[in-house]
Amino acid sequence: MMNEALPSPFRLIAYETIGSTNDEAKRLAREGAAEGLIIRAERQTSGRGRRGRNWMSPPGNLYFSLLLRPNCRAATAAQLGFVAALGVAGAIDGLAPEISLRCKWPNDLLANGKKISGILLETEMAAGDKPDFVILGVGLNLASSPRDTPYPATSLAEEGAPGIGPAETLAGFAKHFVDWLTIWREDGFALIREAWLAMAMGLGEPIQVRLERDTLEGRFLDLDDDGALLLGLPGSSRRIAAGEIFPAMAG
Ligand code: BTN
Repeated sequence: MMNEALPSPFRLIAYETIGSTNDEAKRLAREGAAEGLIIRAERQTSGRGRRGRNWMSPPGNLYFSLLLRPNCRAATAAQLGFVAALGVAGAIDGLAPEISLRCKWPNDLLANGKKISGILLETEMAAGDKPDFVILGVGLNLASSPRDTPYPATSLAEEGAPGIGPAETLAGFAKHFVDWLTIWREDGFALIREAWLAMAMGLGEPIQVRLERDTLEGRFLDLDDDGALLLGLPGSSRRIAAGEIFPAMAG
């Protein structure tokens, strides 16, 4: 276990190796840890992605989980994934401004069109409709990226920005995230949604949405207040709460 400084309100516990930073953050949250705790690891042996996938976690990339205790409805807490995506975008832009960044629904980031970061948001409920806590787990490829992924992946090094380390990247995230979180707390989702949509991949364009069992094709119309994607279909529209988007096949 190592310790490195982060600005208030963050408190960092850093590990060389851990199973999953999300699992450790969740364990400490259940024991009553306060909001602002960040668990970071140099490598994970059981890193988890969305939709039950593994998140390959060799040394050199950034892996961390942040504990929040928002005072809102569970559906509203999903907005925090977009707040976090803007924090990650700010960190990347500060370190490698030459890279073209896009937000990919729901909470991924693309660098020059390839996935560079993913976010795993996990919520545990208290009584009623209030989350007890939310864990925001962030993976950001700095030195390397996996092959054979559903969406092509990349890293800062592969996009021409080598030598950027996890600790400085996390510090950049903390700085930007805190600003977006303040906006979210004081003004709600409107500005977050606007900033995210301004960077969104495929907005207004034909996209393919892969659901658990189905694949849909339509136009990416909008993002609603719970962070769901609105997909335009011939004569109707459909609200998509969870899935994976791709540019629609040509032809
Ligand atoms: C995705 O599928 O795109 C989300 C990936 C989230 C990976 C991060 S790495 C740090 C944290 N710990 C985990 O086990 N997963 C998240």
